Amino acid sequence: MAATAINKHPVPEGARITICEVGPRDGFQIEASFIPTKKKIEIINALFASGLRHMQATSFVSPRAVPQLADAETVLAGIDRPEGSMITALIPNLRGAERAVGAGVDAVHTVVSASETHNLKNVNRSIDTSLMDFEATFALLDRAGVAVEGGIATAFGCPFEGVVPPEQVARIARRYQDLGAASVGLGDTTGMATPATVRAAVQAIRAEAPGLGIGLHFHNTRGVGLACVMTGLAEGVTHYDASVGGLGGCPFAAGATGNICTEDLVYLLNESGYDTGVDLDALIAAAMLTQEVLGRDLPGQVMKSGPRLRRFDPGLTEGATG
Ligand code: COA
Ligand code: ZN
Repeated sequence: MAATAINKHPVPEGARITICEVGPRDGFQIEASFIPTKKKIEIINALFASGLRHMQATSFVSPRAVPQLADAETVLAGIDRPEGSMITALIPNLRGAERAVGAGVDAVHTVVSASETHNLKNVNRSIDTSLMDFEATFALLDRAGVAVEGGIATAFGCPFEGVVPPEQVARIARRYQDLGAASVGLGDTTGMATPATVRAAVQAIRAEAPGLGIGLHFHNTRGVGLACVMTGLAEGVTHYDASVGGLGGCPFAAGATGNICTEDLVYLLNESGYDTGVDLDALIAAAMLTQEVLGRDLPGQVMKSGPRLRRFDPGLTEGATG
């Protein structure tokens, strides 16, 4: 979302990297038991307290499709809005845009899939119908002064169709640019991205839609999520989505698992000399709170091991083995 237009390859050390926290949307949407609205708000506010400023706080979709996020308006009304915050929400259609504008979002993330089968399963229509519906949606958002990131799901592969050609992703990106989007967000819905497919998609978009911002949204399904971020950085991309504790997944995709984990990403970026504006200890505290609310272990790794220079008491055996 609101991806900056730095196109230096690779992104120079010291540059600001924008991290959009998507746990409250991508993470919560796949949770089977309803998370009390008050707890959702508490987690979002803890995430803001760590310094994160871009927050995908919920989605405005059919409550029958995603019952977990039926409380979208109440969540938005209850969360902090720290200075510089950018509150965004996922929307699938015009109705979602109307609700998001009514709830006072700063930006929206529209969603269409790069594969027909996933688009049908996710939003019950063809890719072209989705894009046609977006004409009225974008006009409404433009009048309301709400920024749009054009989301492209299954951008690196589809669990139903397999390979998604980079040209197809670039074609949709170009449609988004023509509709007025300043940026697109490439969603790796079921963790099929690899460094090679990331490079191909980013380069195809740069050729087809010059000047369009690009954000990357990876899932760590096959363990290469952070490697894909390194490829994104090498290609000049400065905007990444991530999810607290590594929560996440699409309920309408077979084999979906968690996003890349925000603490792990912040650790990697901070240690690589990039500027994230996020305090890792405070973020780990937010991940611990999320784990406590959900009542089960989350996949995040840095939340378990702590920062690199965490010091252990030599008198204790915990953490001092191997
Ligand atoms: N918010 C709330 N309700 C909505 C809505 C929205 N954005 N869009 C549609 N609806 C309601 C309609 O009012 C209608 O309600 P009714 O049956 O009470 O009259 C009902 O949903 C069906 O509307 P319709 O336009 O026929 O939609 P559909 O059944 O074809 O479903 C979507 C299309 C897009 C609404 C639905 O598939 C959806 O919400 N998908 C979300 C997918 C998602 O979040 N995936 C995870 C992220 S990738
Ligand atoms: Zn996702």
